[in-house]
Amino acid sequence: GALEDLLTVREFEARARRILDPVHYDYIAGGARDEVTVRANEAGFARLSLLPRVLGGTAERDSAVSILGTRASMPVLVSPTAFHRLVCAEGEIATGRAAARADTILIASMASTVAIREVAAAARAAATDRDPALWFQLYLQPDPQDTLALVRRAAAAGCTALVVTVDSPVLGVNERNVRNRFHDLPPGLACENLRNLRGDEPDTVRRIGMSPELNWDDVDRLRAHTKLPVLLKGVLHPEDARIAVDRGVDGLLLSNHGGRQLDTVPATIELLPEFAAVAGRKVPVLLDGGVRRGTDVVKALALGATAVGIGRPLVWGLAVAGEEGALRVLELLRAELDHTLALCGARGVKDLTPDLVRSAQAGAR
Ligand code: FNR
Repeated sequence: GALEDLLTVREFEARARRILDPVHYDYIAGGARDEVTVRANEAGFARLSLLPRVLGGTAERDSAVSILGTRASMPVLVSPTAFHRLVCAEGEIATGRAAARADTILIASMASTVAIREVAAAARAAATDRDPALWFQLYLQPDPQDTLALVRRAAAAGCTALVVTVDSPVLGVNERNVRNRFHDLPPGLACENLRNLRGDEPDTVRRIGMSPELNWDDVDRLRAHTKLPVLLKGVLHPEDARIAVDRGVDGLLLSNHGGRQLDTVPATIELLPEFAAVAGRKVPVLLDGGVRRGTDVVKALALGATAVGIGRPLVWGLAVAGEEGALRVLELLRAELDHTLALCGARGVKDLTPDLVRSAQAGAR
């Protein structure tokens, strides 16, 4: 079937499931333990209703956003996901081109199977009339020298923000992977950002380190070493959001890692109102987890998010048709977002306010 026959993110997932090695499908679709949080993310959006305004719309609607100095044509960003060469030969080269053509921000994963400078070069070639919008996600490494080497690579490649993932003191356990004995990348694929990270070593690829001993001082030290804005990804407790803002962090990406780290944490959309109250006036709050429709984007923005990220949907696009598939997923969400704005009587994303969202449960009582 042709790409145009796939009308929704859900159809992309169904097609990807047919195409992919089941072990790889499980790695992407799965989450931690009982996958309670994986399901909660999507269900959280479904529980909310939209309450549109009438007779106040415009023919053209403005969806562009600017986040910490980086512009995007729409408030739908590409959240960092690992291992794109597992699902398509070009891997993150295809992702970089798709995000650049969609004129949105790619948060490249530290665990990419293509080095960040090559992703940046591909994005630059695809976005001829502007600088591609590229951010870099990283895990603070147990040895700070490794963290700084990664940051230098990201900055040299032209990344304009750093997204530090803090929800992974240890790796979550996806029991599908355990059952499938999927523990490592197949031969020939590697986390290229970690190749020869220490200048003096021969051709080696370091393993991504995680540490339960990291603390707020480590975040401060990173911030002291870079001029790039630093966002934290994976803060869930509102008290930690407050600490992050007080410490001078530049932004928050409210995320539960797509339900892949601690199982049974709340849906991100459920936490958003509290985050908006604690941090939203001081720093941009982004959200990911379970965004599958334009209505989900509108709900998140109405409740205070500056933008949302997509994880799995982008990977399904890549799996189905590489760069063109990933672009198609982004363009589907752009069209749905614009259509939803029109139906809500909004002139653009700036018109979205919390009163447009109702809890369906409260309404039913
Ligand atoms: C991820 N995610 C992730 N996050 C991160 O900070 N670094 C990473 O390397 C990865 N890798 C990764 C791989 C795969 C296959 C998935 C599905 C997810 C989490 C990701 O950034 C994001 O938080 C979630 O995917 C958002 O939820 P949805 O959109 O997948 O529901």
